[in-house]
This record gives sequence, structure tokens and C-alpha cells, in this order.
Amino acid sequence: MVWKNILVLTALLNLYGVWGSIQAPSALNLRITKNKTVDIPSTLYGYMWEDINQSGDGGLYAELLQNRAFQGVIPGTQAALFGWQPFQGAWLSVTSDTQGVSSALPNSLEVDIPSFVNGPIGFENTGYWGIKVQSGWTYTASFYAKSSTFSGSITASLTSSTTGQVFSTQTLKGINSKWKQFTFQFTPNTTAPDTENVFRITVNGADAQGASIFFGMFSLFPPTFRGRENGMRIDLAEAFAATRPSVWRFPGGNNLEGGSWDTRWKWNETIGPIENRPGRIGDWSYPNTDGLGLLEYLNWAEDLGAEPILGIWAGISIANYSELSSWPVVPEDELKPYVDDAINEIHFITDPAGSSDLAKLREQYGRKEPYALTFIEVGNEDQFQPDSYAAYRWNAFVSAISAEFPHLEFLATTQPSTALNPAYKRIDFHQYAVPQWFHDAAFMFDDYPRNGTKWFIGEYAVTSTNTSCNLGAISCGRLAFPTLEGAAAEAAFMTGMERNSDVVFASAYAPSLQHLRNFQWSPDIMSFTAGTLIKSASYFVQQMFSANRGTQVLETTPASTNDSFPLFWVASHNNKTNAMFLKVSNVGSDDIVFDLSFDFPVGGFGTAITLANPPLTVNSGVFSVANTPEYPEAIVPVSSAFAIVDPTKFNYTFPAQSVTVLSLSVKI
Ligand SMILES: *[C@@H]1O[C@H](CO)[C@@H](O)[C@H](O)[C@H]1NC(C)=O
Ligand SMILES: *[C@@H]1O[C@H](CO)[C@@H](O)[C@H](O)[C@H]1NC(C)=O
Ligand SMILES: *[C@@H]1O[C@H](CO)[C@@H](O)[C@H](O)[C@H]1NC(C)=O
Ligand SMILES: *[C@@H]1O[C@H](CO)[C@@H](O)[C@H](O)[C@H]1NC(C)=O
Ligand SMILES: *[C@@H]1O[C@H](CO)[C@@H](O)[C@H](O)[C@H]1NC(C)=O
Ligand SMILES: *[C@@H]1O[C@H](CO)[C@@H](O)[C@H](O)[C@H]1NC(C)=O
Ligand SMILES: *[C@@H]1O[C@H](CO)[C@@H](O)[C@H](O)[C@H]1NC(C)=O
Ligand SMILES: *[C@@H]1O[C@H](CO)[C@@H](O)[C@H](O)[C@H]1NC(C)=O
Ligand SMILES: *[C@@H]1O[C@H](CO)[C@@H](O)[C@H](O)[C@H]1NC(C)=O
Repeated sequence: MVWKNILVLTALLNLYGVWGSIQAPSALNLRITKNKTVDIPSTLYGYMWEDINQSGDGGLYAELLQNRAFQGVIPGTQAALFGWQPFQGAWLSVTSDTQGVSSALPNSLEVDIPSFVNGPIGFENTGYWGIKVQSGWTYTASFYAKSSTFSGSITASLTSSTTGQVFSTQTLKGINSKWKQFTFQFTPNTTAPDTENVFRITVNGADAQGASIFFGMFSLFPPTFRGRENGMRIDLAEAFAATRPSVWRFPGGNNLEGGSWDTRWKWNETIGPIENRPGRIGDWSYPNTDGLGLLEYLNWAEDLGAEPILGIWAGISIANYSELSSWPVVPEDELKPYVDDAINEIHFITDPAGSSDLAKLREQYGRKEPYALTFIEVGNEDQFQPDSYAAYRWNAFVSAISAEFPHLEFLATTQPSTALNPAYKRIDFHQYAVPQWFHDAAFMFDDYPRNGTKWFIGEYAVTSTNTSCNLGAISCGRLAFPTLEGAAAEAAFMTGMERNSDVVFASAYAPSLQHLRNFQWSPDIMSFTAGTLIKSASYFVQQMFSANRGTQVLETTPASTNDSFPLFWVASHNNKTNAMFLKVSNVGSDDIVFDLSFDFPVGGFGTAITLANPPLTVNSGVFSVANTPEYPEAIVPVSSAFAIVDPTKFNYTFPAQSVTVLSLSVKI
């Protein structure tokens, strides 16, 4: 690049001129040096994942039909029919009295047609609180059916539940007394005006009077991310991918643990054809289909370019958290089968092609080559059961697994202060808190001993501004959506993680997704319905930090210390692109000018990405501190370019309550 100092500083500051009424304080000096302090690990930013608040079923997993195979329900109950409703007076019930479509799926839908009916009659699925019907999309649908009292044709359609408009329809023939799978496509040529649409199945009443028809294992998929079969919902998947995550922790979280030992997440029941997957009672009050299973997660992590952090079940279930419970965790002498199960899971994931029965099973299920796997997380939040973890559970899993797989690295989940044998080298630390906690914690690693111990900040978020509220409590003033104030506090903390990324090797905001029609945990980084997606202020901070990565931290003077509160910053250099990044969070209520200087030459142009309160009120005078269903784009990053006159210094104004990433082209 040719270095030019003749350019005139363009109107960058004018961009923020609308804040001109705020008195800017005198400039603070910040010198950025070419001294490289830390190699930034490639795993620094990513996600923690579990199926919570319909983030998986009804969310990222693109399946559109809710309760598609009657998994985890009690036959004969009204509750077993959730997601389904009769159309024109058919009688519906979930039954296990007839043989199910597979041994894993014993429940079927029995549809009884009354005598003396005419015209179309049947039932419909209302989706996950709606179904998006998009012109130009090809939907792949299927179900199983059998009947010994009906042999006519079956009509399937995508239909508006409010206007009755039929968007696409198919007629299916050949039902008989044995289970038969019907597979077909919908190709609507109109986009529905809303998501109040149903998947409807009807028969002609005159042909079916008095008949009983059984159905099982329904499925309806829109196009998926990268066209993967049994894959991900495109808009949500693209939103994750756009933040370029480099770690993906799964499958939980509490949802790994199960409400009981027996309902823990079992890897071997989440693989193979979806007819083989029994599903389970998840930890978050709805059954999990397990359509999003082990291989889907691993493929997804690969598609993202993210390293998997595999959580393995470590001998406790949610029920054991209760202080009132006198139940022990799995006793030491009963732990071996669970350790063996984790070892088998790792063999299934990593064995070379064809080298074992488990590798052959993996190939049979569509994946010949092994997956890359380095990180194993032993349990989840075992600070709640630290005694048994320290006494034998950690040791049992780590020693047996590392004997078999010496290259694997293990993450502990107890408090950092809990001593373990063998001593942990990596620890997963979680924090949900008020903004002030994150401001203060921006420095928690600056003086941490460089003794080889590395941290995964595996769950964190600003969840409340109520300082008298018990951190993490749900009831006392939890934010509904991430606010700009919270996002700026998270960014402040993230400057500390990145500056100390020789200690913090990975991080994950949590939780990630929330269906607005069925949730209790808030805030989440993205909110969605069947047809919408809202990216939060916190989402944009993750994206700004993760998509603009350096390879080394650059030393600054002052180093980021509390002296310059309310500004927090970190500088980095990318040794492949020769880009320099300065990430700054201003958590205060005034604009602040940094008088920036560099001990290396800076190119003639810079770019800035700024997340700040909009200068103008949104939507007719209403000012929103968060992106909400009403104001989904109140707070979005703005990019701008600016010219640099003097290649060694310039002033830059960081607006009140904002997060900024400056990108400069440098020679270091
Ligand atoms: C940069 O490193 C050099 C050599 O280690 C050292 O002399 C200098 O003080 C460092 N600069 C700053 C600003 O710390
Ligand atoms: C670039 O940075 C990476 C990551 O910190 C490091 O592994 C690599 O050695 C660096 N390459 C050069 C040429 O400095
Ligand atoms: C949502 O998450 C919260 C936990 O934070 C849980 O209490 C609640 O049951 C979940 N709701 C659904 C519908 O998953
Ligand atoms: C859409 O499809 C319906 C049913 O196949 C057909 O009657 C209609 O003409 C089509 N409309 C357009 C605009 O192609
Ligand atoms: C999965 O593994 C468990 C042992 O952990 C076993 O009890 C169960 O039967 C297995 N399920 C299937 C479907 O093989
Ligand atoms: C940093 O400064 C702020 C404001 O002066 C103060 O409230 C906070 O306690 C300080 N944090 C630390 C870790 O010193
Ligand atoms: C490193 O230091 C921290 C903090 O003192 C300590 O908790 C941890 O156990 C140490 N790690 C090693 C490997 O000594
Ligand atoms: C803040 O938390 C306290 C303690 O739990 C509670 O009494 C109070 O109602 C909460 N305030 C708000 C605004 O929710
Ligand atoms: C930056 O601002 C300070 C204080 O307002 C001023 O003294 C200095 O000349 C400015 N520097 C540049 C490079 O504009």
C-alpha cells in the first residue's frame, strides 16, 4: 500500500455531530505500540448451545411441525395432542395401542371419522406458533399412515388458518393396513401474508365415514442452511454464521443433564434416521425431538468453522440440585457405565474411517471421515455438586478418557477455587449479572497468574440492572431484551477477555435463541417467531468483536486500566491482513475523545463500526433502548470510513454509551 498523508480528515466526526449538544471532555491520550503481548487463540469467540426456550426444536432446527412424532407425551391425554387440532370434527387421540412406526416411536395419532359426514375432514398442525409459507421455496413433507377401514386418497396442504387460502396441496394414494410412508413436496407460488398457516391433512368424509386412520412421524422442512438434509433454519443459521463463531459448546447446559439420570441426553439415541430417535423429556419443559442430534451438531459446527466443545454427562441430573434432596449423585462404584458411554461417544466421533464398529456406524449414518475434536467438558455447572466432582467424578472421566484419547483436553465446571485431581488446566466459568459486574470484571484477568490454566467464559450476559437482585435470579427485574447499556457492559468485559486471551481461550454469550411465543429465560441474543428474527444489541457486539479478529494483542499506554473509566479498550493486530483493530466500549453518558497515537505508521483510511443509541428517535418519537418486536432495528451498527491525515496520530470521539471497532491498515 502507498502511504499518503495528504488526505484531508473527512467528515467522520460530523457523523456524530448530532450529539453535538453534549460537552465533550478534554481528550484522553492513548498510545498504541507495536509490542505484541499475547497470541490471540483462534477459539476466542463462539456460542454455548442447548435446546432451551425452543431454540432447537421450533428454532434453529428447521422442522416446521410441532410434536411431529408424539415423543415424550402420555397417550390418551389431551396434552399429548399439543400442536395438533381437528378439522371439521374428526376425533383425534394419541395412542400406543397400535404398533408405532418404529420401536423408538411407539405413539401414533388415531383419527376417527364420524359416520354421516361429507366433505373434507381431518386435522392440522399449527407449527411452532405459525408456519412460514414462502413463494419459491420447495417444502419437503412426509408422514406414515395406515388404516384397515379406509383406502381412499389423502390430501395434504399448506393453508391459511384465517382466510382458508390454500397455498399448496398434494393428493396421496395407496394407504393400506400396513405402515406406509408418504413423501411429497409443496411448492407454493404465493407468499402467505402472515404465519397463521397450518399443515392440513384431510380425507373425503363420504369415503371415510366411521373409519379409523393412524398416522405417525410427520415432517415438513423448508429449504435449509447449505441444503443439509434434516438441517437448520436459514435465517437463524445465517445470523449465527455472520458472527463467525469459532467454538460451539453443546448439547448443554442443563439440557445435557436431564431431569433424572434416565432422561439425560443420550448421544446414541440422537443418531441415525429420525424414526430411530425416541426423543426425550428435555430439561426445559417441552419434549425434545432429538432431530437435532449429535451428527447434526457436529456438521453444524463444521459448517460454522467452529471447534466443538463437547459436554459429556458426568453423573448428576437437575433433580439433584435441590438443596432439600438427600439423594446422592451417581456413586463412585456405579459410575463406570457412564464413563464407558462417554468413551463410546468419542470413538463414534473420532475413530478413523472403517477402523471400528462405531466408525462404521457413523459411516452408515452418512459420515465417513472422523470429526476433529479437542475439547471435552465434564458435566455442567458442577459447582452445585462440587464434593463428588472433586472426590471422584472429575477424576473418573478424565483419567479413563485421557488413557484412551491422550490428545483430548478437558474443561472442569466447578468453581475455579475447587481443587481437582488431576488439577484442571481449563475451566468453564459462567456469569449472569448487572452491568457493573462486567465493568469491574474487565480487569479480572490482568493480574491472573500465567501458570498454564485457561478459562472458557462459557456463559455470560447482562441479565438485569437491579443491583439488589440476586445475580441470575429470574424474578427481580430481568431484562426482556438485551439493551445497549448491557451490550456496552459486555463489550467492556470482552476487551478484558481479548487483552488476556492467553488466559481466556474461549467465550460464549448465552443463551442464544428465544422463541417469542414460548420462553421464560430472557434476555437472549436473538429472538424469533415462525416468521421473524430480531438481532439484539448484544448480538451486534458479538459480531463486531468476533468478525474483526487480530492474531496478537498490541500493548497500549495506558494499558486498559480503570483509570480511564468509562472507556474500555483493546488493540490487536492481524498478521495475515496487516489490519489493526481498536475495540472500545464507552459505558458512560458522555462522548469521550481519545487522542490516539501510534508508534508505527497507519494507512490513509480507517473504518469504524459503531453501535450506539440512534441520534434520532425511532418510529414517531419513541426511543428504544433495545431491539424489540416493536422496534427490531432500534440499535444496529453503522459503518463509516474516514481519512487519516497524519499517519501517527488522530483524534476520535467515542459516543456516549457505544461500542466501536476501528479498523486501520498498518505497517508493523
Ligand atoms: C515495548 O517493548 C520494548 C522492548 O521489550 C520495551 O522497551 C518498551 O518499554 C515496550 N513499550 C511499552 C510501551 O511498554
Ligand atoms: C500469526 O499469528 C498466529 C496466531 O497468534 C501465530 O500462530 C503465527 O505464528 C503468526 N504468524 C506470523 C507470521 O507471525
Ligand atoms: C425457558 O428457559 C427458562 C430457564 O431459564 C425455563 O425456566 C423455561 O422453562 C424455559 N421455557 C421454555 C418454554 O423452554
Ligand atoms: C399458483 O398455483 C395455483 C395452484 O397450482 C394456480 O391455480 C395459480 O394459477 C398459480 N398462480 C400463479 C401466480 O402462478
Ligand atoms: C444408548 O446407550 C445406553 C447406555 O448408555 C443404553 O442403555 C441404551 O439402550 C442405548 N440406546 C440405544 C438406542 O441403543
Ligand atoms: C472502576 O471505576 C469505576 C468508576 O470510577 C468504579 O465504580 C469501579 O468500582 C472501578 N472498578 C474497579 C475494579 O476498580
Ligand atoms: C493458576 O493460578 C490460579 C489462581 O491462583 C489457580 O486457581 C490455578 O489452580 C493455578 N493453576 C495451576 C496449574 O497451578
Ligand atoms: C430488585 O430486586 C429486589 C430484591 O430481589 C426486589 O425486591 C425488587 O423488587 C427488584 N426491583 C425490581 C424493579 O424488579
Ligand atoms: C486532539 O485533540 C486535542 C485536544 O482537543 C488537541 O490538542 C490535539 O491537537 C488533537 N489532535 C489531533 C491530531 O487533531
